[in-house]
Amino acid sequence: MRIAVVGSGGREHALLATLAQSPEVDRLFAVPGNAGTAEVAENVPGVGATDAAGLASFAEAKRVDLTIIGPEQPLVAGVADEFLDRGLPVFGPTAAAARIEGSKAFAKEVMAAAGVPTARSESFTDPAAAIAALDDFGPPWVVKADGLAAGKGVTVTGDHAAARAAVEAALVGKVHGEAGQTILLEEFLEGPEASVFAVTDGRTVLPLAPARDHKRVGDGDTGPNTGGMGAFSPLPDVDDDLVEEIRRTVLEPTVAELGRRGARYQGLLYAGLTLTPAGPRVLEFNCRFGDPETQVILPRMTSDLADLVWAAAEGTLSGCKVSWDPRAGVTVVLAAGGYPGSYRTGLEVEGLQAAAARPGIHLFHAGTALDPDGRVRTAGGRVLGVTALGDDLADARARAYQAAELVQFGGAHYRRDIAAPPP
Ligand code: AMP
Ligand code: GLY
Repeated sequence: MRIAVVGSGGREHALLATLAQSPEVDRLFAVPGNAGTAEVAENVPGVGATDAAGLASFAEAKRVDLTIIGPEQPLVAGVADEFLDRGLPVFGPTAAAARIEGSKAFAKEVMAAAGVPTARSESFTDPAAAIAALDDFGPPWVVKADGLAAGKGVTVTGDHAAARAAVEAALVGKVHGEAGQTILLEEFLEGPEASVFAVTDGRTVLPLAPARDHKRVGDGDTGPNTGGMGAFSPLPDVDDDLVEEIRRTVLEPTVAELGRRGARYQGLLYAGLTLTPAGPRVLEFNCRFGDPETQVILPRMTSDLADLVWAAAEGTLSGCKVSWDPRAGVTVVLAAGGYPGSYRTGLEVEGLQAAAARPGIHLFHAGTALDPDGRVRTAGGRVLGVTALGDDLADARARAYQAAELVQFGGAHYRRDIAAPPP
């Protein structure tokens, strides 16, 4: 099978590295990929991730059997629709189904119709109405841009003035552009978070091993939000019974409700949940694999990923099973100095071979590129994910940090408390 993966982050490297191990796969393409994907796939520069016609034509020209779309922007923009229109197998939902991530107000409407447990919320386009409603929701306040805002659309604050400022920034200052024309005020949910991914063909919904992301830049969940600074799996507080409950009460009803609306979902549905004392509640849905959770989940998958994504795209998922390595996984993200603010690129990354040679280590490149001399240089904010498998979380954690210390580039920083037991 020939598979193309669209995207250039750690998630895409993890997908490609896992697919490369499948006996079903004989050729892989990364569109456009990074320095790491070049080791396991052919990098394809020059086709934009949201260039639907260009991507579909590439798949036709190279006789690609299946295309996996990594990031949300192309899915929300309708890249999968172009593939389906041309009869090309694709893993990733149509624009109508990807709206579950593309519009938080739409996601709330689907959840309400499907009876899926989530935070109470209300959407607004008028700043005065939103400000007048603040007292119905907080403190603390949760203010969210409706659309895709590159991880910067959510403000959680105990400060009334800051909540008001977030409303005005979106609705008056238009800081999120079109994505913030509508905002949501949401009930604050307290509890640990969990990311539960499910592969679906629109009928069968198959959950993957749960993981937990660490979104804040600093130790102890301090500082600004990032794309994700690390992850671990499995979760001590999410057992198989709870995953089954989440499948039954969250994932399956959502896929079924989208189907009722004519938006059949094929691909990966990501539920971001808060585990409240009253049970799991949905914080958000994403229409694609999460990053960095994918980098910790896929090394634990012992069944064939190529078979799984193929079955989802072909509508033959019923009867498929996924199996897991009982070992624990921990991923530590190495970020560029200054990230999530501004940062430099083009710095040489050293120590990759030594780190990769350690037992149980998988290195997943994110913001990296090869220079003309074949050296790996930084090219983004999140540069590298170091995943370790170990006997338990403590063992995996120790291994991940031992390997992370071997990788060097100017200004590199990472959290020291990924997968650490709560204080
Ligand atoms: P989202 O992009 O919706 O996942 O939000 C980003 C982060 O903001 C989440 O991972 C949570 O940590 C936090 N957050 C979002 N919604 C809520 C909520 N209703 N209550 C508390 N925290 C939230
Ligand atoms: N891990 C957060 C995300 O992928 O959106």
